[in-house]
Amino acid sequence: MLEIRDLHVSYGKVEAVRGVSASAAPGRITLVLGANGAGKSTTLRTVAGLVPAVSGEVVLDGKVITGRPGHTIVRDGLVLVPEGRRVFAPLTVEENLLLGGYVAPRAKSAETLDRVYEMFPILAQRRRGAAGLLSGGEQQMLAFGRALMSSPRVMLMDEPSMGLAPAMVESVFGAVREIADAGIALLVVEQNAELGLEIADDVVVVARGEVVFSGEAEQARSDASVVRAFLGEAALSQ
Ligand SMILES: Nc1ncnc2c1ncn2[C@@H]1O[C@H](COP(=O)(O)OP(=O)(O)OP(=O)(O)O)[C@@H](O)[C@H]1O
Ligand SMILES: [Mg+2]
Repeated sequence: MLEIRDLHVSYGKVEAVRGVSASAAPGRITLVLGANGAGKSTTLRTVAGLVPAVSGEVVLDGKVITGRPGHTIVRDGLVLVPEGRRVFAPLTVEENLLLGGYVAPRAKSAETLDRVYEMFPILAQRRRGAAGLLSGGEQQMLAFGRALMSSPRVMLMDEPSMGLAPAMVESVFGAVREIADAGIALLVVEQNAELGLEIADDVVVVARGEVVFSGEAEQARSDASVVRAFLGEAALSQ
């Protein structure tokens, strides 16, 4: 369980995040929506320990992790799948996965590798091929798989569908749902609001660093202001 309480983050004079509160629970997908520059990535990066918070708290399973370095946060069970996938192109698929498991003991990492291959058979098929030869969608699966290698209880995902062909977007969203169904708590930033709302359980809408809507996805889908902002006027008359 992840709880973000009244988080404030600044880059110099720019107040990128101004009092964001949100949570993610096991088996559930919390979708984070918001315009460009709203502070979505900054929120994720701060929770993952890559950017310092000015104030506020990040609580992981009852333990305050704010201000701790990123690698110890991974060890505690929270991992970020960054925007743009960032796989190591010249390394093989399996080498990429093993890098994600470096925080785990060796024996456990072999077991986790098997589980990742079970979840993403395409990665098993391509295990000895260079990661750079995978399609965008497959690289996203690899980025998920690499994150899963640290046996997280909470996963943060920054725009997993960005730049993917429409057919791939659906399978990536299927994978996101599957990861949540494995009991992991997910906080997912997505530009594709329409598809995002289809798989989300909870929704947080951020504007200029502040939360302007927070509730169940069902409620977001029927809230005119959320629908208008992210899906357009046409969706309201459907
Ligand atoms: N490294 C940085 N240094 C200075 N300002 C930054 C930095 N990263 C982001 N910002 C600023 O902080 C604010 C929030 O940016 P952030 O990347 O968190 O937004 P976002 O919601 O993820 O946007 P996008 O949809 O474009 O990914 C913006 O005003 C942005 O210009
Ligand atoms: Mg962003």
